[in-house]
Amino acid sequence: MTATVEAPIEAPEIDYDPFAMESLEDPHRFDGEAREVAPVVHVKKYGYYAITRFAEIQKALRDWRTFSSTDRPFYAPSPFRPRTLILEDPPEHTASKNAVLSVFSKENLAAFEVHFRAEAERILDELLADGPVEVDGFQDIAARYVLKVFPDVLGLPEEGRELLLKFGDGVFNTFGPPSDFQAAKLARASEAQEWVENNTAREVQAEGGIGWQLYAMADEGKISEHTAQQILKSIFAAGFDTTTASIASMMRAFGDNPGEWEKLVADPGLVENAWEEAIRYYPASRYGGRWANKETVLGGVRIPEGAKILTMWLGAGRDPRQYTNPDEFHVDRDLKGGHLSFGFGIHTCAGNLVARLEARTLLRAMVERIATIELVGEPRQAVNYQAFGHEYVPVRLTPKA
Ligand code: HEM
Repeated sequence: MTATVEAPIEAPEIDYDPFAMESLEDPHRFDGEAREVAPVVHVKKYGYYAITRFAEIQKALRDWRTFSSTDRPFYAPSPFRPRTLILEDPPEHTASKNAVLSVFSKENLAAFEVHFRAEAERILDELLADGPVEVDGFQDIAARYVLKVFPDVLGLPEEGRELLLKFGDGVFNTFGPPSDFQAAKLARASEAQEWVENNTAREVQAEGGIGWQLYAMADEGKISEHTAQQILKSIFAAGFDTTTASIASMMRAFGDNPGEWEKLVADPGLVENAWEEAIRYYPASRYGGRWANKETVLGGVRIPEGAKILTMWLGAGRDPRQYTNPDEFHVDRDLKGGHLSFGFGIHTCAGNLVARLEARTLLRAMVERIATIELVGEPRQAVNYQAFGHEYVPVRLTPKA
């Protein structure tokens, strides 16, 4: 008996506009609705395809030959966006990726950890010195900590560090259709361009530092000098906004779920899992992109050759096929199946180890010191074409007795 193979269906067309302001303000709702239509949908307004579900995104990203990274939706060259590994397939991608991964080696991370821990403790001890305190989880904790610790280990000057958040915000806002909203964001980010250019130049890199190590790889012929600077720019673009937003979002998740903070304080062994759950629940990156370099079928849906594709990881993080009660935040959730908040496959976030180290170190120091986290006002979500996060999270922190 021969098994019948079902013919693929055409991707359902949806009217949903992922870049309309209402979607940017509530992406979980809109990306969730698209996810429930089909594993792959056709976003009529832009002619793009969107992979909406966890299993299908993973499947596509395992197959980098078909789902190439050399082009993506909204990837017209932009003065803001570094052109490097995110736009490469092997073999070019392998060389660039190895270069980045080597600067986040075990030895380098071990050295970073000592510094991250000391700074996390210093910031928290200062904030909590006089007992319960009301702070903005974004500005007073997330941004203050991230803009201190990571630029320090990169050897960046103190002055101008806040520009890194503007730069990241600008880079992520290039991933969407031209609009007044985008123009305003890019104008704001342009303030950061000169600083980024100056601080990624070869001459200013401190000997032995991350930038210096990248340029040394260029000298050894492992990557080109241009790639070294582009990689450094990618670290500037992707390494601050994301981590800051994730930590602020995590503060909100705890503010909304005080019982989960209690659980974590009672069992600090859950710190690593709690952070992974926080970025599943509130991923800093809403979607990635690829293009299909041949016709293919995914989840029973036909994707034509040449299709430009959005991989919707924020929606996939709440896919009920993958997670039980996905809209709930639980520090002890079973996450053995992973999440897609750092992407998946060969383009998995190159900075994930450093981002994880930063966040876990801070969270551990918080758990040691803070008895309760309460929301004391309305948090404000940031609005960005591609990034997701919170820009204001008013909380009261009560130190342990
Ligand atoms: C919580 C923080 C972070 C999140 C949620 C995040 C998320 C992501 C995601 C989803 C991707 C995959 C993009 C794709 O396949 O289209 C990615 C790639 C990347 N990320 Fe991150 N990221 C974070 C922090 C960082 C940090 C700290 C750095 C640098 C130190 C960094 C550097 C990069 C680079 C260079 C890539 C491109 C990797 C490649 O193409 O192979 N990211 N990130």
